[in-house]
Amino acid sequence: MGTTEMETAASPLSLVADVATCLGGEADIVKRTTQVLGLLTRALGASEASLWLSTPQGLVLAARAGVHTTPAELLAAHLETGAMDSGPMVMRPLSAGTRHLGALVVRIERGFWPDASMAVTAIASMLAPALAHAEQTRAFKADVEKRTRQVEEERRFIHSVVDSLPVSLYVVDRDFRISVWNRTREGGSQGVRREQALGKTIFEILHRAPAEKLRTELDEVFRTGRMQQFNMESRATGEPRTYRITKIPMQLVEGEPISHVITIGEDVSDMAVTQQRIAQAERLAAMGQMAAGVMHEVNNPLATIAACTENLGGQLSDLDRGGASLPPVMHEMLRTIGTEVERCKGIVGSLLEFSRPGSREKSAVSMNTIIEQALSLLKHQAQFKRLSLPTFLDPELPTVDGNAEQLLQVVIALLQNAADAMTHDGAVTVRTRRGAAAGDPLVVEVIDEGQGIARSDLPHIFEPFFSTKGPGRGSGLGLSICYAIVSDHGGRLEVDSAVGAGSTFRILLPGATPQ
Ligand SMILES: Nc1ncnc2c1ncn2[C@@H]1O[C@H](COP(=O)(O)OP(=O)(O)OP(=O)(O)O)[C@@H](O)[C@H]1O
Ligand SMILES: [Mg+2]
Repeated sequence: MGTTEMETAASPLSLVADVATCLGGEADIVKRTTQVLGLLTRALGASEASLWLSTPQGLVLAARAGVHTTPAELLAAHLETGAMDSGPMVMRPLSAGTRHLGALVVRIERGFWPDASMAVTAIASMLAPALAHAEQTRAFKADVEKRTRQVEEERRFIHSVVDSLPVSLYVVDRDFRISVWNRTREGGSQGVRREQALGKTIFEILHRAPAEKLRTELDEVFRTGRMQQFNMESRATGEPRTYRITKIPMQLVEGEPISHVITIGEDVSDMAVTQQRIAQAERLAAMGQMAAGVMHEVNNPLATIAACTENLGGQLSDLDRGGASLPPVMHEMLRTIGTEVERCKGIVGSLLEFSRPGSREKSAVSMNTIIEQALSLLKHQAQFKRLSLPTFLDPELPTVDGNAEQLLQVVIALLQNAADAMTHDGAVTVRTRRGAAAGDPLVVEVIDEGQGIARSDLPHIFEPFFSTKGPGRGSGLGLSICYAIVSDHGGRLEVDSAVGAGSTFRILLPGATPQ
């Protein structure tokens, strides 16, 4: 190594200064180390300058300038054993604290001179902390990225859970601002998209609901920390639906005041209808039992009264024939007793239908034929003559396993009610149709254009003795008997009605299974 060599190369001191500047720069560490290696090769005239980094997983080549030395050769030079100068090669360990990062290897074919060795040592000692810092930063960044990914996945998972629920759900904070609004809530009656709802107050979004009521409900949950639940009727989708609303308190931090309220809306209309049906069936069954008991008690005295009346009549006639002059009113009173007893027997007989309809023989019955029979019996009556009676009968309607006489009674009772409800001319339509799918019940509908049924009356129309037709005009037993007969056939009797819009009575009967 001659003076000439030193003169051609830059001074090692200025090299160290350049490296210091380079490492202090903002650029990425890989770029900076490559620059440092470039400086080394240029300044010292090195044939190769390589930077070896070892991670806890193994040794990696981070950067390399020059082409002569293969990684295998460098490895053979015992990287981890510390500083090593051997001929044209100088190796300096890169350590930061107890962490061994790797080594800086510089090869100068013509051999090193002291200043050059020292410069490599100085550069290694500057590189080590810079690399350690970069390694830490990278590890930290990777950690943050991993956590961010995990948090994002958790968030997506929770969102999917909340969106998959078949209930509408939203969450408000103490300022009534919406922080969660699930997909089902988007499709709700007021159809507000999540993007529109988030961050707004609930009063801005549910502007159709009375704000004060909403505020009071939410305040109550914030104040008491207790869940609230109630049912709500809504016609927002066109048809009346029942929603169960649940307001649940939520604490972000345990032990602190309620921070949010979760509101869940569930469409329980079908459940409500089923519950109503069950309640109605139970109520009517209880009434049937009571009616059976009453009939049992009343039947015998009625028979006794009838027999006594007949006997008394006979005795009065004998007295008349014997010349006794009895007041004519006595005969009249006896006749009245006789007709009233017959009327009572009639009612008891009808009640028997209601409480024990199932005692009749059953066979394959065509409901289409039953409807035609009913219409041919009724159409000559004055009340029906003024009405048009269109029928739409499904020619492929399956038969039902039933009692023809009872089913005829049901259809007649429904037609009679329909005609009673028609205070003006119009149509009473009868339709039949198969169930939509195999196993679904067949349907018979009697549709009128009459006055309709008041909402408050609807729950009672199937009860025995419920009638709005006034004394002497209706006994109120018609529908209760229909209900009992249809139930006994394994079917259901339903009604859709609105005041002024007419009524549809629907008989659903299981089709007979083909033999
Ligand atoms: N098609 C209908 N349109 C309007 N209201 C009806 C109709 N069918 C039944 N109702 C109402 O339901 C009540 C009960 O009917 P139900 O057939 O049981 O008794 P009723 O017709 O009053 O007397 P009954 O049938 O014993 O002679 C009726 O009084 C009426 O208020
Ligand atoms: Mg009736």
